[in-house]
Amino acid sequence: MGRLDGRVALVTGAGRGFGRAIALALGRAGADLAVNYNVSAAAAKEVVAEVEAAGRRAEAVRADVAHEDQVRAMIAQVLARFGRLDVLVNNAGVMTRGPFLDVPVADYGGMFAVNVTGTLLCTQHALRPMLTSRYGRIINLSSQLARTSVGAGFAAYAATKGAIEAFTRAMAHEVGPHGVTVNAIAPGGIDTDMSRAVMTPEYRARRLGELPVRHFGGVEDVAYCAVFLATEEAHYLTGQVLQPNGGWVMP
Ligand SMILES: NC(=O)c1ccc[n+]([C@@H]2O[C@H](COP(=O)([O-])OP(=O)(O)OC[C@H]3O[C@@H](n4cnc5c(N)ncnc54)[C@H](OP(=O)(O)O)[C@@H]3O)[C@@H](O)[C@H]2O)c1
Repeated sequence: MGRLDGRVALVTGAGRGFGRAIALALGRAGADLAVNYNVSAAAAKEVVAEVEAAGRRAEAVRADVAHEDQVRAMIAQVLARFGRLDVLVNNAGVMTRGPFLDVPVADYGGMFAVNVTGTLLCTQHALRPMLTSRYGRIINLSSQLARTSVGAGFAAYAATKGAIEAFTRAMAHEVGPHGVTVNAIAPGGIDTDMSRAVMTPEYRARRLGELPVRHFGGVEDVAYCAVFLATEEAHYLTGQVLQPNGGWVMP
């Protein structure tokens, strides 16, 4: 018996990085999985195969989360295949960096389109079936950069994640009476394709000595938080931000 037996979860950007680890962990906990991707089709299919091999149903669903028509079609595909949607993990995200004066509007516009508008669109469309069933778990990916700075070059990205945390609190208030919780996870110091350019050997060596736990985390540490927030038992937790970051940033 898994804690998420009978539940259906949609994870955006689930072919790689945190999204992949979260999808696999939700599957191990018993959920059936909709595995969203934008361009990483082969990677998403591998995740589907792995979830199916563990005995759960899974389907890859392509959508660029920044486009409403594609998000609408994605949710329709999920409902057609699984008949319900209980858990939405808004994980898809992009980061471009550089001194803010040099960041073209197209770059930060693109980050807002995926990180913020994508999260809002997926939430809006996933909420309808959740409100009907009076049950839902929405989990948004923030970043510790929403509340601290690790050096120049991240201002626009940090702004997108600040927006995610404000959205998380406001939505928690709005949908709490309908059985839906909304929380965020703000990871820090974990290797993925996105963070590899930042986590250079010099950076790692400098940061390691400052981390209370004296070691960096892995994608599974973020996945563990997502599974916890996705459970029925987490019903009394909403509008919160879990921070798997080794104690780097403390609220
Ligand atoms: N890595 C870190 O240290 C860190 C720290 C804090 C927060 N985060 C946040 O955690 C989330 C995942 O980050 P990550 O490190 O796993 O990044 P990653 O390895 O670069 O993966 C990004 C994921 O987002 C998907 N994606 C990007 N644009 C998309 C779009 N328009 N529509 C649908 N999917 C899209 C990608 O799918 P495709 O390959 O199919 O495009 C990919 O699966 C992001 O929200 C990120 O901001 C990361």
